[in-house]
Amino acid sequence: MSDYTKLTSFGPVPEGFIWGTATAAHQIEGGNTNTDWWRFEHTEGTGTKESSGDACDSFNRWREDLQLVKDMGLDAYRFSIEWARIEPADGEFSTVALDHYKEIMETARGMGLKNVVTFHHFTTPLWLADMGGWTNPVIVEKFARYCDVAVKHFGEFIDVACTINEPNMVAWIGYDLGAFPPGHKGDMDSFRTATKNFAAAHRAARPVLKAGPGDFPVGITVAISDTRFHLDGDRNGPETSPFDLPEDFPGAEHKWLMVDAYLEAAEGDDFVGVQTYSTHHVGPDGQQLPHPEGQRVTQMGWPFSPAAIGNTVRYAAAKSGLPVIVTENGVAATDDADRVEYISVALTALREAMNDGVDVRGYFYWSLLDNFEWASGFAPFFGLTKVDLKTFARSPKPSSAYYASLVASSR
Ligand code: GAL
Repeated sequence: MSDYTKLTSFGPVPEGFIWGTATAAHQIEGGNTNTDWWRFEHTEGTGTKESSGDACDSFNRWREDLQLVKDMGLDAYRFSIEWARIEPADGEFSTVALDHYKEIMETARGMGLKNVVTFHHFTTPLWLADMGGWTNPVIVEKFARYCDVAVKHFGEFIDVACTINEPNMVAWIGYDLGAFPPGHKGDMDSFRTATKNFAAAHRAARPVLKAGPGDFPVGITVAISDTRFHLDGDRNGPETSPFDLPEDFPGAEHKWLMVDAYLEAAEGDDFVGVQTYSTHHVGPDGQQLPHPEGQRVTQMGWPFSPAAIGNTVRYAAAKSGLPVIVTENGVAATDDADRVEYISVALTALREAMNDGVDVRGYFYWSLLDNFEWASGFAPFFGLTKVDLKTFARSPKPSSAYYASLVASSR
């Protein structure tokens, strides 16, 4: 912990502003076996720490999860529906899976909660991964077809739709860094192709979702780190903000693949989802520079920098010209007091951005639960709620009460 001024009131928010918390199917449901991620977790040498296994058993315990959201006095629950369950084989749709998600949405509505539904959150059905996944352009029409079937089944219960979650991370980490499926390293051609297909899939899905039933905003959610560029390669040297970069700097393509490609693809959307965790200092090629000694980091090894969100909402709003929803923001911390500090400083920065005129329509803390953090397994604790991985008992942490108090202060 450090000295900081604890925010005690967020103050009034514009009408329609949505407070919530987020999860994703593969990270909480358990037994999500028909996906590229499950196979990756069970393949030796991929670097994934452990299997997602039963995760938080939310496939069965989703009612408890909704109750936790309700107990905090939030407006909405952001969660994802699992493509591999809904379409277990090419063109074969499961009514049972569709009904399962419909029941969650109907129940949430009955409790007075809004459903913020993500259609793709990192996992891809195995049958499609075997066809080349996001590098095969056929995925564009497959994704649109799946969205069409899903929205026809439960569109009337959707309040906000997020087409694809952080395609930039899936493409970068999957094809360049190799730590997500399919585990390619330095495969720049695939990185570029996947980016193109992700953008096209988002654009193809939008009119399908807009056709309803239901009438709800549609957008894409993008991982945007608060990035400081050191064009001379010196971590202690001058910083250039992403607004002021020369057009032809060496990392221009990387920056485009990482962020701007999606802010462009979002043109004509109802909002852009901003997901920010940290500040990163990068060299002229866009690659991260080593942290200075004594850098305070989170459990993920990322700089502890809750104010980052203030800069990223400004960037995304200015670049896209769209309203922003903070669809994810949070910290992995063993000490929950660090989470309280993170939320306090992050929401202070968000308030400032809103006071400066940035059109922010909602905020979602990541995550409702301690859950399966992809290649890092269950060790990083992002949750407002602790989950016992043997009994699946949920225990809200003090940070959940603190978050709830700030939400209440905005009413
Ligand atoms: C995002 C992702 C989430 C969650 C979070 C924390 O990239 O959408 O699934 O894992 O990061 O790392």
